[in-house]
Amino acid sequence: MKNSGNETQIEQRVLSEYDDYSCWLQYTKIENQEWLADYQTLLSHIEVLSHSHVMESAKQELMTAIKGMVGSSPEASAEIKNYSSVVLATVEDHPSICELVDSQLLDDEGYLITAVIVDGYQKLMLVGKTDVGALYAVFHLIRLMKMEEDLGEVRIIENPTNQLRMINEWDNMDGSIERGYAGESIYYKDHQFIGDMKRIKDYARLLSSVGINGVAINNVNVHEVETNLITSRFLPDVARIAEVFRAYGIKTYLSANYASTIQLGGLDTADPLDQHVQEWWGEKVKEIYQYIPDFGGFVIKADSEHRPGPFTYDRNHADGANMLARALKPFGGIVFWRCFVYNCLQDWRDRKTDRARAAYDHFKPLDGEFLENVVLQIKNGPMDFQVREPVSPLLGAMPNTNQVLEFQVTQEYTGQQKHLCYLIPQWKEVLDFDTFTRGEDSTVKRIVSGELYQNRLSGITAVSNIGNDRNWTGHTLAQANFYGYGRLIWNPELTAEEITEEWVRLTFGNDPEVVDTISTMLLRSWSIYESYTAPLGVGWMVNPNHHYGPNVDGYEYSLWGTYHFADCHGIGVNRTLKDGTGYTGQYFKENQDLYESLETCPDELLLFFHHVPYTHKLKSGVTVIQHIYNTHFEGVEQAEKLVEEWQQLAGKIDEDRFNGILSRLLEQAEHSKEWRDQINTYFYRKSGIHDELSREIY
Ligand code: GCU
Repeated sequence: MKNSGNETQIEQRVLSEYDDYSCWLQYTKIENQEWLADYQTLLSHIEVLSHSHVMESAKQELMTAIKGMVGSSPEASAEIKNYSSVVLATVEDHPSICELVDSQLLDDEGYLITAVIVDGYQKLMLVGKTDVGALYAVFHLIRLMKMEEDLGEVRIIENPTNQLRMINEWDNMDGSIERGYAGESIYYKDHQFIGDMKRIKDYARLLSSVGINGVAINNVNVHEVETNLITSRFLPDVARIAEVFRAYGIKTYLSANYASTIQLGGLDTADPLDQHVQEWWGEKVKEIYQYIPDFGGFVIKADSEHRPGPFTYDRNHADGANMLARALKPFGGIVFWRCFVYNCLQDWRDRKTDRARAAYDHFKPLDGEFLENVVLQIKNGPMDFQVREPVSPLLGAMPNTNQVLEFQVTQEYTGQQKHLCYLIPQWKEVLDFDTFTRGEDSTVKRIVSGELYQNRLSGITAVSNIGNDRNWTGHTLAQANFYGYGRLIWNPELTAEEITEEWVRLTFGNDPEVVDTISTMLLRSWSIYESYTAPLGVGWMVNPNHHYGPNVDGYEYSLWGTYHFADCHGIGVNRTLKDGTGYTGQYFKENQDLYESLETCPDELLLFFHHVPYTHKLKSGVTVIQHIYNTHFEGVEQAEKLVEEWQQLAGKIDEDRFNGILSRLLEQAEHSKEWRDQINTYFYRKSGIHDELSREIY
């Protein structure tokens, strides 16, 4: 906060007008007088016909938004009155509302927004099938208001495409966040709960406003203290958080330690077929539900990166997951069992072991063996959230198993919220990818929505990008990844452009120049980031451990199985069936053929699938080495251009956000040079081939 001037005035201005803390839920007075004249009367009364904690949240949200945007608090009543008004109701409580909407059209979380005239009064009906639908309708109306849309003849019916719409926090109880780039945890500090319920409620509001309905509140790597989250030491605290989330339609989940029976239960085994182990979990789950009657269930990382799991006892993942699922079943709980399972003690000289193959090799043979309340959680790519990877071949390969897709909103490998890298276009590509599992149009989005296989449980989850920074995400523009994630998984048919424009208008207002400039910057940013980092899908090339900044050989000779195999002749990983690791064989025929052949493999994934000489000519017409030089020089130019574009908005954005974003863009532009120079120099020295354009390579 600035020191000059009157502190209180600044405080007020910052908080009431454009506080970054409120993200897309900041409400400033609408300046469009025409719009206000049209709807002021309609928005001066609200009638809330159903009652529950969630309905109360819906009412409060609407009251706050109207007060902020229209300028005065609406009058609230619990029945229909002879006024123009906004009416909140559920079909459940008011079957008569069925006249307005065929309730068959609404899913449990679906809603209708429609303008009607009742006895000569204008009524804007926000009707959910259940209370949470009404809450989502309120957030939708708020969006319409902020974007100054026409409310007079509105008729909207919305249902979420995905049933499970989750967030995974990777928060540890010491307050740190694994792969967190926006401060510390909002939940924990010094191995205790912080208990700042205001902040957690504000988080719940942000989550719910984009339709998220489940949150796992601790890191998938469950360390010693966190193992106790499922004990009476911490369950009262978890219950308090669950209560806040519940009022926003969000279920609380915990990541659990697979070996809890040993650490907590005094047993000497975690063998899933051992009766004592099964009984212990049965009792444990019963205890959890006494504290949290609607507890969502467990997220489990087992037999992965040194976490314990059923392999120790010669059991498979189905044995492990089903054991927990049986304990949760009587209470309606779910097990999210992660498929990020691979050998992390590899030797780079062993060209046959391929980390990319691992998830499929482990899980595909178990199709059909998991109980109906187990959901496999599959990362979008076969490696680990790189800027470019193919889609995981496991998606669609298990028709008899529930599955959710896992994205990473936190930018571990994509600039750590110091660089601008807007991921919605990447996620759209994943969702639109055709797996061909059931012939054409077997897209990932149809698999994970449950449509294709009619799975009982399905959806999408993601690693969160928030922390206790005032603006939640560090880089203000990284809020767009959080927002966009929620909106996209609610409706994967939304285009990246639609989501982007919506976010910019809600966050920065409706000025066309602002909307246009920021949207364009966001939409280009993934490709810019890709261009100056690891080329052509090969990935990695980052500093070990923290994963920030260039280091071409950072992981090349380590145990993690993430190699690029660059030498003086060429680069890339041969994953073909013909003479490589055979990974391409995990795809259905159409994709297998596409990737197997050097002729058809898309340029952007070439080095993921093939080892080629530097002189290999890409479809774009240039050689691999020239492509590396070109993209790295251009990437830096583009990163510099982002700074210039942003500077054009001086005076149109409040100073705090303007300067905050500017400083990150400047850092990105500077850092992109380091990427360019390290990568170009490395490959120049390896290949000995000059840049055709004779640009400076050190
Ligand atoms: C990545 C990340 C780890 C994380 C792991 C996971 O490898 O670097 O920090 O634990 O993914 O998804 O489990």
